[in-house]
Amino acid sequence: TAPVIGIHDLAVATGSRVLDLADLAYATGVEPAKFHKGLGQDQMSVPAPDEDIVTMGAAAAAPILERHGTAGIRTVLFATETGVDQSKAAGVFVHRLLGLPSSCRVVELKQACYGGTAALQMAMGIVARDPRERVLIITSDVARYGIDTAAEPTQGAGAVAMLVAADPDLLEIPGPTGVWTADIDDFWRPNDSDVAMVEGKLSIDAYLDAFTGAWDDYRAQGGVDVGEIDRFCHHQPFTRMAEKAHRRLAEHTGVDLPLETFLPSTFYNRRIGNSYTASLFFALAAVLDADDDLAGARVGLFSYGSGAVGEFFTGIVRPGYREVMRRERTEQMLDARVPVSVADYRALHRGVPRDTTNDITVDAVSAGPFHFAGIVGRARRYTRD
Ligand code: CAA
Repeated sequence: TAPVIGIHDLAVATGSRVLDLADLAYATGVEPAKFHKGLGQDQMSVPAPDEDIVTMGAAAAAPILERHGTAGIRTVLFATETGVDQSKAAGVFVHRLLGLPSSCRVVELKQACYGGTAALQMAMGIVARDPRERVLIITSDVARYGIDTAAEPTQGAGAVAMLVAADPDLLEIPGPTGVWTADIDDFWRPNDSDVAMVEGKLSIDAYLDAFTGAWDDYRAQGGVDVGEIDRFCHHQPFTRMAEKAHRRLAEHTGVDLPLETFLPSTFYNRRIGNSYTASLFFALAAVLDADDDLAGARVGLFSYGSGAVGEFFTGIVRPGYREVMRRERTEQMLDARVPVSVADYRALHRGVPRDTTNDITVDAVSAGPFHFAGIVGRARRYTRD
Protein backbone atom coordinates (compact mmCIF):
# COMPACT_ATOMS: atom_id res chain seq x y z
CA THR A 1 0.00 0.00 0.00
CA ALA A 2 1.14 3.56 -0.74
CA PRO A 3 2.62 5.37 2.29
CA VAL A 4 0.77 8.27 3.89
CA ILE A 5 2.73 11.46 3.03
CA GLY A 6 2.39 15.01 4.23
CA ILE A 7 3.70 17.73 6.56
CA HIS A 8 5.70 16.21 9.40
CA ASP A 9 6.73 19.46 11.11
CA LEU A 10 6.20 23.19 10.61
CA ALA A 11 7.87 26.24 12.21
CA VAL A 12 7.73 29.97 11.56
CA ALA A 13 9.80 33.16 11.74
CA THR A 14 9.17 36.83 10.99
CA GLY A 15 10.87 40.25 10.96
CA SER A 16 12.01 41.53 14.35
CA ARG A 17 10.25 44.92 14.04
CA VAL A 18 6.52 45.67 13.96
CA LEU A 19 4.41 48.61 12.79
CA ASP A 20 0.97 49.15 14.29
CA LEU A 21 -1.39 49.91 11.40
CA ALA A 22 -3.32 52.39 13.57
CA ASP A 23 -0.13 54.52 13.54
CA LEU A 24 0.09 54.24 9.74
CA ALA A 25 -3.59 55.19 9.49
CA TYR A 26 -3.13 58.34 11.61
CA ALA A 27 0.05 59.30 9.74
CA THR A 28 -1.65 58.98 6.35
CA GLY A 29 -5.03 60.49 7.28
CA VAL A 30 -6.96 57.22 6.93
CA GLU A 31 -9.57 55.95 9.39
CA PRO A 32 -7.97 53.05 11.34
CA ALA A 33 -11.18 51.04 10.78
CA LYS A 34 -10.32 50.87 7.07
CA PHE A 35 -7.22 48.82 7.92
CA HIS A 36 -8.66 46.90 10.88
CA LYS A 37 -12.07 46.05 9.39
CA GLY A 38 -11.80 46.85 5.67
CA LEU A 39 -8.50 44.98 5.21
CA GLY A 40 -8.60 42.84 8.38
CA GLN A 41 -5.07 43.80 9.43
CA ASP A 42 -3.76 45.06 12.79
CA GLN A 43 0.03 45.14 12.38
CA MET A 44 2.77 44.36 9.90
CA SER A 45 6.18 42.83 10.49
CA VAL A 46 9.14 44.86 9.27
CA PRO A 47 12.60 43.35 8.78
CA ALA A 48 15.60 45.00 10.46
CA PRO A 49 18.55 45.90 8.16
CA ASP A 50 20.29 42.57 8.95
CA GLU A 51 17.18 40.50 8.12
CA ASP A 52 15.88 39.24 4.79
CA ILE A 53 14.32 36.13 3.23
CA VAL A 54 17.47 34.11 3.95
CA THR A 55 17.75 34.95 7.67
CA MET A 56 14.01 34.48 8.23
CA GLY A 57 14.03 31.22 6.26
CA ALA A 58 16.97 29.86 8.27
CA ALA A 59 15.32 30.95 11.54
CA ALA A 60 12.10 29.13 10.58
CA ALA A 61 13.91 25.93 9.59
CA ALA A 62 16.37 25.76 12.52
CA PRO A 63 13.94 24.33 15.13
CA ILE A 64 12.79 21.67 12.65
CA LEU A 65 16.37 20.45 12.22
CA GLU A 66 16.94 20.63 15.99
CA ARG A 67 13.99 18.28 16.48
CA HIS A 68 14.52 15.87 13.58
CA GLY A 69 18.18 16.15 12.57
CA THR A 70 19.24 16.26 8.93
CA ALA A 71 19.22 12.53 8.08
CA GLY A 72 17.23 11.77 4.94
CA ILE A 73 16.97 15.43 3.87
CA ARG A 74 18.30 15.30 0.31
CA THR A 75 16.24 18.19 -1.06
CA VAL A 76 15.70 21.80 0.04
CA LEU A 77 13.03 23.73 -1.86
CA PHE A 78 13.09 27.48 -1.19
CA ALA A 79 9.96 29.27 -2.41
CA THR A 80 10.00 33.05 -2.67
CA GLU A 81 8.93 35.88 -4.93
CA THR A 82 11.38 38.34 -3.36
CA GLY A 83 14.63 36.58 -4.25
CA VAL A 84 17.95 38.21 -3.30
CA ASP A 85 19.81 37.05 -6.42
CA GLN A 86 18.77 36.45 -10.02
CA SER A 87 20.73 33.19 -10.24
CA LYS A 88 21.71 31.65 -6.90
CA ALA A 89 18.97 29.98 -4.87
CA ALA A 90 18.48 31.62 -1.47
CA GLY A 91 18.27 28.09 -0.08
CA VAL A 92 21.98 27.58 -0.76
CA PHE A 93 22.80 30.25 1.85
CA VAL A 94 20.40 28.52 4.25
CA HIS A 95 21.98 25.14 3.49
CA ARG A 96 25.33 26.43 4.82
CA LEU A 97 23.86 28.40 7.75
CA LEU A 98 22.05 25.26 8.96
CA GLY A 99 24.91 22.82 8.31
CA LEU A 100 22.95 20.58 5.94
CA PRO A 101 24.86 17.69 4.33
CA SER A 102 26.45 18.18 0.90
CA SER A 103 24.44 15.21 -0.46
CA CYS A 104 21.52 17.54 -1.08
CA ARG A 105 19.87 19.34 -3.99
CA VAL A 106 18.77 22.94 -3.39
CA VAL A 107 16.60 25.02 -5.68
CA GLU A 108 14.46 28.17 -5.60
CA LEU A 109 10.89 28.20 -6.92
CA LYS A 110 8.94 31.22 -8.12
CA GLN A 111 5.35 31.89 -9.11
CA ALA A 112 4.36 34.80 -6.88
CA CYS A 113 2.67 33.66 -3.64
CA TYR A 114 1.93 30.23 -5.12
CA GLY A 115 5.58 29.01 -5.00
CA GLY A 116 5.23 27.38 -1.57
CA THR A 117 2.41 25.15 -2.76
CA ALA A 118 4.43 24.21 -5.85
CA ALA A 119 7.25 23.21 -3.46
CA LEU A 120 4.83 21.16 -1.36
CA GLN A 121 3.50 19.27 -4.38
CA MET A 122 7.03 18.57 -5.64
CA ALA A 123 8.10 17.40 -2.20
CA MET A 124 5.14 15.01 -2.10
CA GLY A 125 6.33 13.50 -5.39
CA ILE A 126 9.92 13.10 -4.17
CA VAL A 127 8.83 11.32 -0.99
CA ALA A 128 6.33 9.15 -2.91
CA ARG A 129 9.22 7.93 -5.09
CA ASP A 130 11.38 7.08 -2.07
CA PRO A 131 9.63 7.23 1.33
CA ARG A 132 12.99 7.21 3.12
CA GLU A 133 13.58 10.75 1.87
CA ARG A 134 12.46 13.90 3.64
CA VAL A 135 12.19 17.29 1.96
CA LEU A 136 12.79 20.62 3.69
CA ILE A 137 10.57 23.39 2.31
CA ILE A 138 11.19 27.02 3.13
CA THR A 139 8.70 29.72 2.15
CA SER A 140 10.00 33.21 2.87
CA ASP A 141 9.12 36.70 1.63
CA VAL A 142 9.26 40.39 2.37
CA ALA A 143 6.17 42.06 0.89
CA ARG A 144 7.13 45.54 -0.30
CA TYR A 145 4.98 48.08 -2.11
CA GLY A 146 5.62 51.76 -2.72
CA ILE A 147 5.26 54.22 0.16
CA ASP A 148 1.94 56.15 0.02
CA THR A 149 0.30 53.59 -2.27
CA ALA A 150 -3.02 51.85 -1.51
CA ALA A 151 -1.05 48.63 -1.03
CA GLU A 152 1.28 50.08 1.66
CA PRO A 153 -0.82 48.73 4.61
CA THR A 154 -0.72 45.23 3.07
CA GLN A 155 3.04 44.76 3.44
CA GLY A 156 4.63 42.32 5.89
CA ALA A 157 7.40 39.75 6.23
CA GLY A 158 7.71 36.15 7.34
CA ALA A 159 8.85 32.62 6.69
CA VAL A 160 7.37 29.17 7.26
CA ALA A 161 9.52 26.04 7.06
CA MET A 162 8.04 22.57 6.67
CA LEU A 163 9.38 19.06 6.62
CA VAL A 164 7.57 16.75 4.21
CA ALA A 165 7.85 13.04 5.02
CA ALA A 166 6.10 9.68 5.01
CA ASP A 167 3.95 8.90 8.06
CA PRO A 168 3.73 12.61 8.98
CA ASP A 169 2.99 13.91 12.47
CA LEU A 170 0.95 16.97 11.42
CA LEU A 171 -1.03 16.76 8.21
CA GLU A 172 -1.63 14.02 5.69
CA ILE A 173 -2.03 15.46 2.18
CA PRO A 174 -4.12 13.11 0.06
CA GLY A 175 -5.10 13.75 -3.56
CA PRO A 176 -6.72 15.06 -5.58
CA THR A 177 -5.87 18.72 -6.01
CA GLY A 178 -7.50 21.35 -8.21
CA VAL A 179 -5.35 23.65 -10.33
CA TRP A 180 -5.93 26.80 -12.40
CA THR A 181 -3.74 29.14 -14.48
CA ALA A 182 -4.44 32.26 -16.58
CA ASP A 183 -2.07 34.96 -17.89
CA ILE A 184 -3.17 38.11 -15.99
CA ASP A 185 -1.19 41.26 -15.10
CA ASP A 186 -2.71 41.77 -11.64
CA PHE A 187 0.54 41.92 -9.66
CA TRP A 188 4.15 41.59 -10.81
CA ARG A 189 7.65 42.87 -10.09
CA PRO A 190 9.81 43.91 -13.04
CA ASN A 191 13.51 43.02 -12.80
CA ASP A 192 14.48 46.66 -12.22
CA SER A 193 12.07 47.20 -9.31
CA ASP A 194 12.31 46.19 -5.67
CA VAL A 195 8.65 47.01 -5.03
CA ALA A 196 5.74 45.15 -6.60
CA MET A 197 3.41 46.66 -9.20
CA VAL A 198 -0.23 45.93 -8.50
CA GLU A 199 -3.64 46.50 -10.04
CA GLY A 200 -5.50 46.24 -6.75
CA LYS A 201 -9.09 45.66 -7.86
CA LEU A 202 -8.06 43.39 -10.73
CA SER A 203 -5.96 41.33 -8.30
CA ILE A 204 -8.97 40.76 -6.05
CA ASP A 205 -11.10 39.61 -9.00
CA ALA A 206 -8.27 37.41 -10.32
CA TYR A 207 -7.87 35.80 -6.89
CA LEU A 208 -11.59 34.98 -6.72
CA ASP A 209 -11.65 33.62 -10.30
CA ALA A 210 -8.62 31.45 -9.51
CA PHE A 211 -10.40 30.20 -6.38
CA THR A 212 -13.61 29.11 -8.07
CA GLY A 213 -11.60 27.76 -11.03
CA ALA A 214 -9.35 25.67 -8.77
CA TRP A 215 -12.35 24.55 -6.72
CA ASP A 216 -14.25 23.37 -9.82
CA ASP A 217 -11.17 21.46 -10.97
CA TYR A 218 -10.78 19.93 -7.50
CA ARG A 219 -14.36 18.65 -7.64
CA ALA A 220 -13.95 17.44 -11.24
CA GLN A 221 -10.92 15.43 -10.10
CA GLY A 222 -13.02 13.71 -7.42
CA GLY A 223 -12.40 16.06 -4.46
CA VAL A 224 -14.76 15.90 -1.47
CA ASP A 225 -17.93 17.94 -1.13
CA VAL A 226 -17.50 21.35 0.52
CA GLY A 227 -19.54 20.19 3.53
CA GLU A 228 -16.86 17.60 4.36
CA ILE A 229 -14.21 20.29 4.93
CA ASP A 230 -13.96 21.35 8.58
CA ARG A 231 -11.53 24.31 8.36
CA PHE A 232 -10.41 26.57 5.54
CA CYS A 233 -7.11 28.34 4.92
CA HIS A 234 -7.24 30.76 2.00
CA HIS A 235 -4.17 32.74 0.91
CA GLN A 236 -4.14 35.99 2.90
CA PRO A 237 -2.63 39.06 1.19
CA PHE A 238 -4.75 40.74 3.90
CA THR A 239 -7.08 38.65 6.02
CA ARG A 240 -10.27 40.27 4.71
CA MET A 241 -9.40 38.75 1.31
CA ALA A 242 -9.81 35.29 2.86
CA GLU A 243 -13.25 36.32 4.08
CA LYS A 244 -14.18 37.42 0.55
CA ALA A 245 -12.95 34.04 -0.73
CA HIS A 246 -14.97 32.19 1.89
CA ARG A 247 -18.15 34.05 0.97
CA ARG A 248 -17.48 33.42 -2.70
CA LEU A 249 -17.11 29.68 -2.08
CA ALA A 250 -20.42 29.66 -0.20
CA GLU A 251 -22.15 31.46 -3.11
CA HIS A 252 -20.47 29.25 -5.68
CA THR A 253 -21.40 25.98 -4.00
CA GLY A 254 -24.73 27.14 -2.59
CA VAL A 255 -23.69 25.76 0.81
CA ASP A 256 -23.82 27.87 3.97
CA LEU A 257 -20.22 28.05 5.25
CA PRO A 258 -20.00 29.52 8.75
CA LEU A 259 -17.28 32.16 9.12
CA GLU A 260 -15.93 30.20 12.13
CA THR A 261 -14.61 27.59 9.70
CA PHE A 262 -12.07 30.11 8.34
CA LEU A 263 -11.62 32.75 11.10
CA PRO A 264 -8.97 30.87 13.16
CA SER A 265 -6.74 30.89 10.06
CA THR A 266 -6.36 34.68 10.28
CA PHE A 267 -4.94 35.03 13.80
CA TYR A 268 -1.24 35.16 12.87
CA ASN A 269 -1.58 36.95 9.54
CA ARG A 270 -3.54 39.83 11.12
CA ARG A 271 -0.35 40.58 13.05
CA ILE A 272 2.26 39.74 10.40
CA GLY A 273 0.80 41.18 7.20
CA ASN A 274 1.39 39.64 3.80
CA SER A 275 4.26 37.17 3.68
CA TYR A 276 3.44 36.06 0.12
CA THR A 277 4.61 32.41 -0.23
CA ALA A 278 4.51 31.90 3.55
CA SER A 279 1.06 33.43 4.10
CA LEU A 280 -1.00 30.27 3.42
CA PHE A 281 1.19 28.27 5.79
CA PHE A 282 0.93 30.89 8.54
CA ALA A 283 -2.83 30.39 8.10
CA LEU A 284 -2.37 26.63 8.50
CA ALA A 285 -0.17 27.16 11.59
CA ALA A 286 -2.87 29.36 13.14
CA VAL A 287 -5.57 26.73 12.52
CA LEU A 288 -3.45 23.95 14.03
CA ASP A 289 -2.53 26.19 17.01
CA ALA A 290 -6.18 27.06 17.81
CA ASP A 291 -7.80 25.67 20.98
CA ASP A 292 -10.11 23.09 19.39
CA ASP A 293 -8.99 19.51 18.89
CA LEU A 294 -8.74 18.94 15.14
CA ALA A 295 -7.35 15.39 15.06
CA GLY A 296 -8.92 13.70 12.02
CA ALA A 297 -10.41 16.97 10.71
CA ARG A 298 -10.09 17.95 7.06
CA VAL A 299 -8.53 21.34 6.28
CA GLY A 300 -9.01 22.97 2.85
CA LEU A 301 -6.13 25.09 1.54
CA PHE A 302 -6.36 27.58 -1.32
CA SER A 303 -3.08 28.89 -2.68
CA TYR A 304 -3.02 31.91 -5.02
CA GLY A 305 -0.08 33.43 -6.85
CA SER A 306 -0.73 36.50 -8.96
CA GLY A 307 0.02 36.34 -12.61
CA ALA A 308 -1.89 33.95 -11.99
CA VAL A 309 -1.91 30.39 -10.62
CA GLY A 310 -4.29 28.88 -8.07
CA GLU A 311 -4.50 25.49 -6.39
CA PHE A 312 -7.01 23.98 -3.98
CA PHE A 313 -6.15 20.90 -1.96
CA THR A 314 -6.96 19.42 1.42
CA GLY A 315 -5.10 17.91 4.35
CA ILE A 316 -6.21 15.62 7.16
CA VAL A 317 -4.94 16.47 10.64
CA ARG A 318 -3.00 13.64 12.22
CA PRO A 319 -3.56 12.40 15.77
CA GLY A 320 -0.99 13.83 18.20
CA TYR A 321 -0.39 16.91 15.99
CA ARG A 322 -0.55 19.17 19.03
CA GLU A 323 2.65 17.81 20.49
CA VAL A 324 4.46 18.96 17.34
CA MET A 325 3.08 22.51 17.10
CA ARG A 326 4.92 25.44 18.71
CA ARG A 327 2.15 27.87 19.62
CA GLU A 328 3.95 29.34 22.63
CA ARG A 329 7.15 29.94 20.63
CA THR A 330 5.19 31.60 17.81
CA GLU A 331 3.23 33.86 20.17
CA GLN A 332 6.40 34.85 22.03
CA MET A 333 8.10 35.62 18.72
CA LEU A 334 5.25 37.93 17.69
CA ASP A 335 5.11 39.60 21.12
CA ALA A 336 8.90 40.12 21.15
CA ARG A 337 8.95 42.23 17.97
CA VAL A 338 10.22 45.78 18.55
CA PRO A 339 7.55 48.43 17.78
CA VAL A 340 8.68 51.05 15.24
CA SER A 341 7.21 54.46 14.42
CA VAL A 342 5.96 55.27 10.93
CA ALA A 343 9.11 57.39 10.36
CA ASP A 344 11.37 54.50 11.44
CA TYR A 345 9.49 51.98 9.29
CA ARG A 346 9.78 54.27 6.27
CA ALA A 347 13.51 54.75 6.89
CA LEU A 348 13.88 50.94 6.98
CA HIS A 349 11.82 50.68 3.78
CA ARG A 350 14.10 53.17 1.98
CA GLY A 351 17.26 51.77 3.55
CA VAL A 352 17.30 48.39 1.80
CA PRO A 353 20.50 48.34 -0.32
CA ARG A 354 19.62 48.32 -4.02
CA ASP A 355 23.04 49.02 -5.50
CA THR A 356 25.55 46.22 -5.01
CA THR A 357 28.50 47.84 -6.81
CA ASN A 358 30.14 49.01 -3.56
CA ASP A 359 30.96 46.70 -0.66
CA ILE A 360 28.85 47.38 2.41
CA THR A 361 28.89 46.12 5.99
CA VAL A 362 25.60 45.65 7.82
CA ASP A 363 25.72 45.56 11.63
CA ALA A 364 23.93 42.76 13.49
CA VAL A 365 21.06 44.65 15.12
CA SER A 366 18.42 41.93 15.45
CA ALA A 367 18.46 39.14 18.03
CA GLY A 368 19.46 36.69 15.32
CA PRO A 369 20.82 34.01 15.30
CA PHE A 370 21.10 34.60 11.53
CA HIS A 371 22.20 37.92 10.06
CA PHE A 372 22.66 39.52 6.66
CA ALA A 373 26.19 40.91 7.10
CA GLY A 374 26.59 42.94 3.92
CA ILE A 375 27.87 42.78 0.36
CA VAL A 376 31.44 41.90 -0.68
CA GLY A 377 32.44 41.81 -4.34
CA ARG A 378 28.73 42.12 -5.24
CA ALA A 379 27.93 38.87 -3.34
CA ARG A 380 25.78 38.71 -0.22
CA ARG A 381 27.28 37.61 3.08
CA TYR A 382 25.42 35.90 5.95
CA THR A 383 26.54 34.96 9.47
CA ARG A 384 25.26 32.78 12.29
CA ASP A 385 25.84 33.78 15.95
N1 CAA B 1 -14.29 51.35 8.05
C1 CAA B 1 -14.47 50.08 7.63
N2 CAA B 1 -14.18 49.68 6.35
C2 CAA B 1 -13.68 50.60 5.50
C3 CAA B 1 -13.48 51.94 5.89
C4 CAA B 1 -13.81 52.32 7.23
N3 CAA B 1 -13.62 53.57 7.67
N4 CAA B 1 -12.99 52.61 4.82
C5 CAA B 1 -12.89 51.70 3.80
N5 CAA B 1 -13.31 50.49 4.23
C6 CAA B 1 -13.36 49.24 3.46
C7 CAA B 1 -13.83 49.41 2.03
O1 CAA B 1 -15.25 49.48 1.97
C8 CAA B 1 -13.27 48.15 1.39
O2 CAA B 1 -14.09 47.06 1.73
P1 CAA B 1 -14.72 46.13 0.57
O3 CAA B 1 -13.54 45.36 0.02
O4 CAA B 1 -15.69 45.28 1.30
O5 CAA B 1 -15.29 47.02 -0.47
C9 CAA B 1 -11.95 47.96 2.13
O6 CAA B 1 -12.02 48.76 3.31
C10 CAA B 1 -10.73 48.42 1.34
O7 CAA B 1 -10.98 49.71 0.89
P2 CAA B 1 -10.66 50.14 -0.62
O8 CAA B 1 -11.23 49.13 -1.57
O9 CAA B 1 -11.01 51.57 -0.83
O10 CAA B 1 -9.07 49.98 -0.54
P3 CAA B 1 -7.94 50.51 -1.45
O11 CAA B 1 -8.41 50.70 -2.86
O12 CAA B 1 -7.33 51.69 -0.80
O13 CAA B 1 -6.87 49.31 -1.41
C11 CAA B 1 -6.26 47.06 -1.97
C12 CAA B 1 -7.18 47.95 -1.14
C13 CAA B 1 -6.64 47.18 -3.44
C14 CAA B 1 -6.43 45.62 -1.49
C15 CAA B 1 -4.79 47.53 -1.77
O14 CAA B 1 -4.43 47.44 -0.42
C16 CAA B 1 -3.80 46.70 -2.59
O15 CAA B 1 -3.58 46.98 -3.76
N6 CAA B 1 -3.13 45.68 -1.95
C17 CAA B 1 -2.15 44.83 -2.64
C18 CAA B 1 -2.79 43.86 -3.61
C19 CAA B 1 -3.45 42.70 -2.96
O16 CAA B 1 -3.17 42.34 -1.83
N7 CAA B 1 -4.36 42.07 -3.69
C20 CAA B 1 -5.03 40.89 -3.20
C21 CAA B 1 -5.22 39.83 -4.25
S1 CAA B 1 -3.65 39.48 -5.06
C22 CAA B 1 -2.93 38.29 -4.06
O17 CAA B 1 -3.56 37.70 -3.23
C23 CAA B 1 -1.46 38.01 -4.24
C24 CAA B 1 -0.72 38.75 -3.20
O18 CAA B 1 -0.40 38.22 -2.15
C25 CAA B 1 -0.38 40.16 -3.46
